Amino acid sequence: MSSLGKIPWPLLREQARSATSRSYAPYSHVTVGAAGYTSNGEIITGSNIENASYGLTLCAECSLISALIGQGGGRLVAVAIVAGDGEPIAPCGRCRQLLFEHGGAELLVDAGETAAPHTLGALLPEAFGPSDLGVRRTP
Ligand code: THU
Repeated sequence: MSSLGKIPWPLLREQARSATSRSYAPYSHVTVGAAGYTSNGEIITGSNIENASYGLTLCAECSLISALIGQGGGRLVAVAIVAGDGEPIAPCGRCRQLLFEHGGAELLVDAGETAAPHTLGALLPEAFGPSDLGVRRTP
């Protein structure tokens, strides 16, 4: 995990919780916030953004990745994702793939105060990723 030192889990959870207040969820009323910790020690947040055309909803993790790239990019090493009650919420399948692109299998995903974090590799085993593209192209 490089020379980062400890992941500031309480701060990440608090930032994720805070991000739920910036959620736009008039349809499901499930507010979600995500806070990512980068290899540079930065914290990036995102909130879910729903849409009247339900399938176009952006998850909190999607907003987080958009903010990460918009702020100059970076590698995610840890992420906390919570609902409005402050408790962890499982990242959906699409978001696991989005997170994989920017954090890889080593990315730590918060499982709450009383459990060890998951690795993204455990949540998305045998993932398809950027390294597959170069070697799987038809010559
Ligand atoms: N949601 C997220 O923001 N992230 C997830 O990983 C799971 C689901 C949001 C999408 C939608 O606005 C609400 O939760 C209910 O599905």
